[in-house]
Amino acid sequence: MDTKATYKGKVLVAGATGRTGQWVVKRLLHYGIPVRIFSREREKALRIFGESVEVVTGKIQSAADVANAVRGCDAVISALGSSSVTGESSPGDVDRDGVIRLVDEAAKADVKHFGLVSSMAVTKWYHPLNLFAGVLSKKWEAEEHLRKVFSMGGRSYTIVRPGGLQDGEPLQHKLHVDTGDKLWSGWINRSDVAELLVVALWVEKAKNATFEVINEADGVQSSLEPYYDRLLE
Ligand SMILES: NC(=O)c1ccc[n+]([C@@H]2O[C@H](COP(=O)([O-])OP(=O)(O)OC[C@H]3O[C@@H](n4cnc5c(N)ncnc54)[C@H](OP(=O)(O)O)[C@@H]3O)[C@@H](O)[C@H]2O)c1
Repeated sequence: MDTKATYKGKVLVAGATGRTGQWVVKRLLHYGIPVRIFSREREKALRIFGESVEVVTGKIQSAADVANAVRGCDAVISALGSSSVTGESSPGDVDRDGVIRLVDEAAKADVKHFGLVSSMAVTKWYHPLNLFAGVLSKKWEAEEHLRKVFSMGGRSYTIVRPGGLQDGEPLQHKLHVDTGDKLWSGWINRSDVAELLVVALWVEKAKNATFEVINEADGVQSSLEPYYDRLLE
């Protein structure tokens, strides 16, 4: 679908230099939506995006840096993800505390919508992935905080819980969406996760939704918006 979105607010993307985050930025730009990215490494951001986006540099551990990043934005999309068991890229620092800090500073800055890349199985404390420093449980804590803060005060959220992530172009698969964290396996393109979070900016049924998503079959899609009609009330 080539339509330019009616959404014209500015969107802060956290984790924008990551593999899903880069797709979030690409899909926002595809729809003509102004983008600011929050990155700990300015050079990396400029290498990936050139001058096409505004870059704010800072640490997710710093409330002041995060406050500076969200100021003046209408929405935030987080594709942050941890990559080490301990330290500043650990699940505790990034998937839980980093996201919680972003949620709190965004709410203070009057950001109206928050989109989050979470994960299938976040509610399953006994899942083997939790051997990686409790990553799923940390994501669950961040989800719970987001639901609490962004379901009030005229704010909204969308939480996407993808299955295993793979690379590839968006809109190439029919998707299966579900709620209640019942799925155990499946794959999805990072680009489709990004697309779901971007269209959620203007799709009313995406507001305050938490859902799992995986590929169902090959099949070119003209839009992912109708998947929001399939979510259980
Ligand atoms: N892999 C899977 O199969 C799978 C399945 C379900 C859900 N998920 C989740 O989906 C999300 C996106 O995954 P992905 O594969 O796109 O992740 P990714 O490529 O590893 O990107 C992660 C992003 O988080 C940023 N980040 C990490 N630590 C940071 C810190 N301390 N401060 C600031 N930024 C930090 C990275 O920044 P730099 O570029 O600076 O490193 C990068 O932009 C993650 O939350 C992941 O857990 C993954």
